[in-house]
Amino acid sequence: MPATTNRPFLGGNWKMNLRLASAVELAEEVHAALSAIPLASKVDLVVFPPACYLQAVGRAIGHGPPSLGAQDLSAHLDGAFTGQVSGAMLDDLGCGWVLVGHSERRHGIGESNAVLRTKLERALAAGLKVVLCVGETLAEREGGHARSVLVGQVRAGLSGLDRGVFGSLVLAYEPVWAIGTGRTARAEDAAEAHRWIREEVADLYDPGLAAATRVVYGGSVTAENAAELFSRPEIDGGLVGGASLKVDSFAAIGRAAASRASHG
Ligand code: PGA
Repeated sequence: MPATTNRPFLGGNWKMNLRLASAVELAEEVHAALSAIPLASKVDLVVFPPACYLQAVGRAIGHGPPSLGAQDLSAHLDGAFTGQVSGAMLDDLGCGWVLVGHSERRHGIGESNAVLRTKLERALAAGLKVVLCVGETLAEREGGHARSVLVGQVRAGLSGLDRGVFGSLVLAYEPVWAIGTGRTARAEDAAEAHRWIREEVADLYDPGLAAATRVVYGGSVTAENAAELFSRPEIDGGLVGGASLKVDSFAAIGRAAASRASHG
């Protein structure tokens, strides 16, 4: 598979953290820090605050960077779905992006491949760009099943989609055992998983589309390990949890992503 020169992507997933004042403060700091990064305009930089703070964070970042993203959306359009937020509502709040299938929903809440596929289609129909997260558990990796798990998740998520939507998609390889654990995948293992994911996209579509499809790594990315991960040709950037809650570490990871743009 040829090295990709895709536009880098970096997402900061704030998860269920912060309060209104601290979310706005972080958003202002991140906006200032990312705006100062040379080549920031060549990277998709996105923060994913809790849904209840989207509007306030959106105001704080203005036209960005970063752009605004949501952590989840409903599989339904409108109606009697207590507590849920639709893609159209997220669009209304100024979101450009949404996460689908984060492991804290896939494994933590038990969302199935079928539900996630519906969410992905709803998001695209609402005009949102999607970060589709895939990843194996520790037991699956240790049992030698990582590749087949990833293939199954990619196939369920993507097969039969119009190839025109791939420009609005980022795939995030997030091994479950590396999320929030401080145990980062070795760069060569992450790169191998990225190749498996692109090989599946090539099987479903063709190698050209697979090479042009952005695949990023998530799971204990830090200011210290980002440059090594992002130096791999297969890895188009990252999805960051814990280290996105501190402006200094997120900006350092942003600089690592931007240096990828300079090599692209
Ligand atoms: P982490 O989270 O960086 O805290 O491991 C990554 C993620 O959940 O996207």
